[in-house]
Amino acid sequence: MADIGVYIERYTLARSEEVGALMKLGQVAHRLGHRLDFLFRADMYKIPEYDAIYIRALTDPLNSSFVAARLAQLNGLRVIDDPESIIICCDKVNMYRHLQTHMVPIPDTVYLKESDLTLEKGASLFKSFGNPIVLKAPNTSFSMYVERVHTAEEFVKVGKKYLRRADRVVAQGFVQSQFDWRVGVLAGEPLYVCQYLIPKKRWKILSYTDTGREIYGNVKGFDLDKVNPKLLDTAIRAGAAIGNGLYGVDLKQVGDEFVVIEVNDNPTIAEDEEDQKAPQVYERLVKYLVGEWG
Ligand SMILES: Nc1ncnc2c1ncn2[C@@H]1O[C@H](COP(=O)(O)OP(=O)(O)O)[C@@H](O)[C@H]1O
Ligand SMILES: [Mg+2]
Repeated sequence: MADIGVYIERYTLARSEEVGALMKLGQVAHRLGHRLDFLFRADMYKIPEYDAIYIRALTDPLNSSFVAARLAQLNGLRVIDDPESIIICCDKVNMYRHLQTHMVPIPDTVYLKESDLTLEKGASLFKSFGNPIVLKAPNTSFSMYVERVHTAEEFVKVGKKYLRRADRVVAQGFVQSQFDWRVGVLAGEPLYVCQYLIPKKRWKILSYTDTGREIYGNVKGFDLDKVNPKLLDTAIRAGAAIGNGLYGVDLKQVGDEFVVIEVNDNPTIAEDEEDQKAPQVYERLVKYLVGEWG
């Protein structure tokens, strides 16, 4: 029997689907003879008493979830996410460089510094990457700082805005599609597959109205054995380029090929969404955490 601690923040409990998934995880842990507790920030000091920690909160080296990950690691616990994965995934430049080093296909991508943000550079990128170009600030999530630009003027303006947050901006060719593939990868194996559908008249799976309201599309689950094996293979290679933990790999399909848009650490797992066609996710997570698998 093992003691599993699930490190959460208040916002983790905002959506009933996410609470539902954590409840299922708890039930499966009990069925397999383990204990599972929820730990808040104030319970951080108890981490060394556990056998494994599963973080379900925003992960960033500047958040307390990172302290939880480090504390777990220093005490020899199994931990999702391990600190190294958090460090790589929270910086898109670092993340894409890992993918490139491991020859994982990504869209046409360059990293720009202040002196690259010129009209001439913009024009030459439109020529080589096509129009539009996608610009991304490196240390962001929830689609907050990911924008399409259509002119060299926009390229310079948005690029300079993003450089206020970082010393590099990512510029990418735009890959058209109606959805993102999301493959959950755990310990080098696919855990679940779904599509995050893109809402009408939008181009990202998540975007915001002028008043800040979130607009997101449906999640459609797929059986692991019914999708293109190349999709799973590309996702596994993307996960392996980062580490051996739990990753949510986002991919776009171009004909019969797949390119990786992002590898997320701490991917959302929500009841009746990611687990739609993968009821085994909870058991796999528990077995990974208690060291019986992966
Ligand atoms: N090169 C691209 N081509 C087409 N769509 C993209 C591209 N890059 C990102 N997107 C869309 O924007 C979303 C957010 O981009 P992403 O790089 O995942 O940043 P974030 O960390 O904010 O999620 C993606 O899920 C995808 O739908
Ligand atoms: Mg993303």
